[in-house]
Amino acid sequence: MNILVTGGLGFIGSHTVVSLYERGHQAVIIDDYSNASKEVLEKLETLIQSKIPFIEGNVTDSKLVENIFKNHQIDGVLHFAAFKAVGESVEKPIMYYENNLNATLTVAKLALEHKVKKFVFSSSCTVYGDQPSPFHEEMDLLPATNPYGATKQMSEQILKDISFAHPEFKVTLLRYFNPIGAHDSGLIGESPLGVPNNLMPYILDVALGKRPHLNVYGSDYPTLDGSGVRDYIHVMDLAEAHVAALEKSLKPVNIYNVGTGQGSSVLEVVKAFETMNDVKIPLNITARRPGDIAVSFADPAKIKNELGYQTKRDLNQMVKDAWNFAKRSNHA
Ligand code: UD1
Repeated sequence: MNILVTGGLGFIGSHTVVSLYERGHQAVIIDDYSNASKEVLEKLETLIQSKIPFIEGNVTDSKLVENIFKNHQIDGVLHFAAFKAVGESVEKPIMYYENNLNATLTVAKLALEHKVKKFVFSSSCTVYGDQPSPFHEEMDLLPATNPYGATKQMSEQILKDISFAHPEFKVTLLRYFNPIGAHDSGLIGESPLGVPNNLMPYILDVALGKRPHLNVYGSDYPTLDGSGVRDYIHVMDLAEAHVAALEKSLKPVNIYNVGTGQGSSVLEVVKAFETMNDVKIPLNITARRPGDIAVSFADPAKIKNELGYQTKRDLNQMVKDAWNFAKRSNHA
């Protein structure tokens, strides 16, 4: 299949492009570099040993996207392109709604017009809100607590409605848990701009000596050690879920959690990182971060039963691959 990958130079998009080629598919990438560096395309081409058609631009530009569908035979869409910083979305709600919703609308509308039958959307476990884990797909979604989360819920609804009206347009909503790690080559990985918001990029900055310590947000959660618990998933496992969705999703609307089903606390992640990589991470135990929930992990049964998909890589592999990438890119 030839797949249009929006946001294909970002963290999850780029790893998914590698998985597509590993499985004999091809990609056309559109990315506006809003949260990706120019070198990622070269690195992808080195990894897969082939040129990848690339269009620089924003997916809300309907003329640009229309031309992609006209100039390439597209069999499916993986729609990653979106803004994703929770705090920023609270400060700049218009920017988030405008970009994320217009992107989904533009790409879905043009995909439908060009008779594309498969559309996979990057959703998030954030759509479940603050309720007890494990999260399973049939749970009611609670109101989003920030505009970023609201754009994920609204995009899910938009795509469900389109598929309801056009059942030949098969939509898969993948609700990601917490992707970390990197491709084992160390060529691609996660490199956010500025001060990292998420746990693993922050740990990597501390390990590289760029920041003095990791702030651990909360020590009084009702968890094993008081720190927050999340379902960390290796980004290559997450990448492979997209390929499974493209190849195997059957219904007009397919909704899947993509997680391991296993929760790990902040302190457990730090310990695994230190042990596997022989690096010390100084800690500063501090107050809870506003908006965080105590525990989030997936019930991963549905995607296993329906698509035969299962994660393969454990936390040790995640922290090892993350560090391998960070060391390489810092010395490059
Ligand atoms: C966050 C977003 C989520 C989004 C996801 C994208 C929030 C509240 N949620 O998830 O909506 O889909 O990123 O990747 O922002 N932690 C620390 N110190 C740090 C950073 C994090 O202790 O410097 C802790 C957090 O409190 C949490 C865990 O590490 O318990 C994971 O945090 P993070 O990586 O930011 O992910 P989420 O908050 O789960």
